[in-house]
Amino acid sequence: MSILFQPTAINGMHLRNRFVRSATWEGLATEEGVVTDPLIDTLARLADGGVGLIVSGHAYVTKQGQAGCRQLGINEDDRVGGLRKMVDAVHAKGGAIVAQLAHSGIFADPDRTGYPPLAPSRVEKVTQHPVREMSETDIRDTVAAFGRAADRAQAAGFDGVQVHSAHGYLLSQFLSPFFNHRHDHYGGELENRVRIHLEIIESIREGVGKNYPVLIKMNAGDFIDGGLERDDAVLAARMLAARGVDAIEVSGGTALSGRKSPIRMGIRRQADEAYFKDAAAAFKSAVDIPVILVGGIRSIDVAEKIVAEKSADYISMCRPFIREPGLVKRWQSGDRTPAACRSDNLCFGPTREGRGLYCVTAERERKKQSRQR
Ligand SMILES: Cc1cc2nc3c(=O)[nH]c(=O)nc-3n(C[C@H](O)[C@H](O)[C@H](O)COP(=O)(O)O)c2cc1C
Repeated sequence: MSILFQPTAINGMHLRNRFVRSATWEGLATEEGVVTDPLIDTLARLADGGVGLIVSGHAYVTKQGQAGCRQLGINEDDRVGGLRKMVDAVHAKGGAIVAQLAHSGIFADPDRTGYPPLAPSRVEKVTQHPVREMSETDIRDTVAAFGRAADRAQAAGFDGVQVHSAHGYLLSQFLSPFFNHRHDHYGGELENRVRIHLEIIESIREGVGKNYPVLIKMNAGDFIDGGLERDDAVLAARMLAARGVDAIEVSGGTALSGRKSPIRMGIRRQADEAYFKDAAAAFKSAVDIPVILVGGIRSIDVAEKIVAEKSADYISMCRPFIREPGLVKRWQSGDRTPAACRSDNLCFGPTREGRGLYCVTAERERKKQSRQR
């Protein structure tokens, strides 16, 4: 059996294989962030397609941290019922699911939230909106909000949570010297820049206990001048692992990183794939918890090599599953053709417009074929 289809476990969470659906904003919640039937169907289809672990779309822990339209919310207790239905649908198809807990910080949308975006520091020319530098009270409230969101995830039956500290969102901003210019004990040295993370992990653990999987997604580097660099990222990962994080998903880049964005386009050859593989290997040699690699993985040959060579323990993908929710089952059945995803990022179009996520290219191809018939 391919190493990719071996069952494993992360802090007691049983996984039928090593494939992860990386967090994906589906834009299928209601405007208030509540789960809908189309969102449940989307995740059930993914679980039915064989993926071992689904990470939910980023769910905002406070309204002020909301980034996009029809984004999932986990900020109020009345969300638990809908979330439970979503979790049950995934479990019914044999999958596991963790909730991605998020705050988008400076990239929150004030027109949507009604609040100025919160950020570690006011940084010029990043957004057009006025930003509020977080006070120590804001930080304490945010730490508590992550803790309460994890309690809700556990109450809804999620198999665990993933803290979003990648892609320039709030926690990634704290780690990054580009975004974080603070002079108090949350800024400056790495030990200070990682403090809010450690407090969040503690706050989550207080509520959910030590036998509940707590994962984190983080940047291996920001790829912007003055941003987070790999050495500091790896050191931060060690501190997080020592504080009880159970697995780390390695990504990189921000909305300001140009061609080095987290969601790179034009992946056509195997050499373009797995663009954070070397970074993941550096994390793996520094920590003894599982490492999950995301970013441009498109073929099973590359995926197998990554795990066999011990660059990472799990293979995480986002865009390939938008086009082919059944990709894992297809590969498992022996059809080893690479993912059909073109990495053209057209999938963002309908999501941003509030119409919900789908593969625009596949839809165009279907329409063309039906016209030719
Ligand atoms: C439509 C879309 C929505 C995304 N939403 C999230 C999200 O909610 N949280 C997150 O951490 N990353 C998000 N990402 C980034 C992916 O999880 C992943 O890191 C990135 O797409 C690279 O992986 P891929 O090459 O397999 O697509 C999103 C990406 C896309 C295309």
